[in-house]
Amino acid sequence: MEVRYGLHPSGSNQQYVYRSSGMNTMGTRSDDRFQKGAQEYAAYVEAPEGRLRTDLAFANLQDFLPASQAKEPMSALDVGCGPGLTAVRLVRLGFHVTQLDSSQSMLDLARHAAEDAGIADRVTLECGDATQLANLFPAASFDVVLCHNLLEYVDDPSAVLRGAARALRDPSGILSIVVRNQAGEVLKAALQAGDLAAAEANLTAEWGVESLYGGRVRFFTPARLRAMLEAESLALVAEYGIRVLSDYLPHQVCRSSEYARILDLERKLGSRPEFAAVARYTQCLARRTENAA
Ligand SMILES: C[S@@+](CC[C@H](N)C(=O)[O-])C[C@H]1O[C@@H](n2cnc3c(N)ncnc32)[C@H](O)[C@@H]1O
Repeated sequence: MEVRYGLHPSGSNQQYVYRSSGMNTMGTRSDDRFQKGAQEYAAYVEAPEGRLRTDLAFANLQDFLPASQAKEPMSALDVGCGPGLTAVRLVRLGFHVTQLDSSQSMLDLARHAAEDAGIADRVTLECGDATQLANLFPAASFDVVLCHNLLEYVDDPSAVLRGAARALRDPSGILSIVVRNQAGEVLKAALQAGDLAAAEANLTAEWGVESLYGGRVRFFTPARLRAMLEAESLALVAEYGIRVLSDYLPHQVCRSSEYARILDLERKLGSRPEFAAVARYTQCLARRTENAA
């Protein structure tokens, strides 16, 4: 594998790493939808439903972030970082954040987000394939690893979890995962689209169609995710539902002006198992077990 370190092509001072494993010219398995659709995705994460997903996941994570013990900043790895909004929040909490993505367009957006926030010196951008995590970073190098809304798109989600477990510094480090919840897809098809056939099909579907890009997206059940974590020596410490009812609110509830109330209600619903079970997304927080490799 070739590794080249240098300044970003734009000339900014941000640290930038190119890695090549001969897979394509960028050295990554870039998914075309995330190359061409990066701007569209960035607009989605700024809109109320995208913001809500990010805000809820971050609020849940914050309760488990390790407290800084030393003068050195703690380090976080954001796998499949997309436009990079979560990294900005982590840097503001004192982390140095490494952002990994296979899409050059997403990394460009992440670079702009870091520059706009004035934190470019506290992030490192890497173009690479999340399923190759074990080859990209030394073991035990991060206090926090994020894997939000990524496992749905990779060929081998277990390989990503294995790499994430290996990348965690020790059992006090925290891994946060957000995935599409199969049960939420059943409700979405019925309540949003009124498509009863799709709702019934989604009861057992392992794959669906991404509404933003039209490509395939993997569905998870919380039980399946838990089993995958256990298989990679990761111990579940908390589980939440993300967006239980906000996708189905009637039009008279304004998503923008009532955002704070919706966020507050969603936090309460998502932490109760009976509601979390049917949320659009599942978030799991996990730690490496002592016997992890
Ligand atoms: C749905 S976006 C999620 C972005 C961000 N984590 C968030 O929660 O908003 C999925 C991201 O994963 C990236 N991605 C998809 N497959 C990948 C892979 N095999 N390796 C690294 N990144 C990948 C995409 O380029 C995209 O930026």
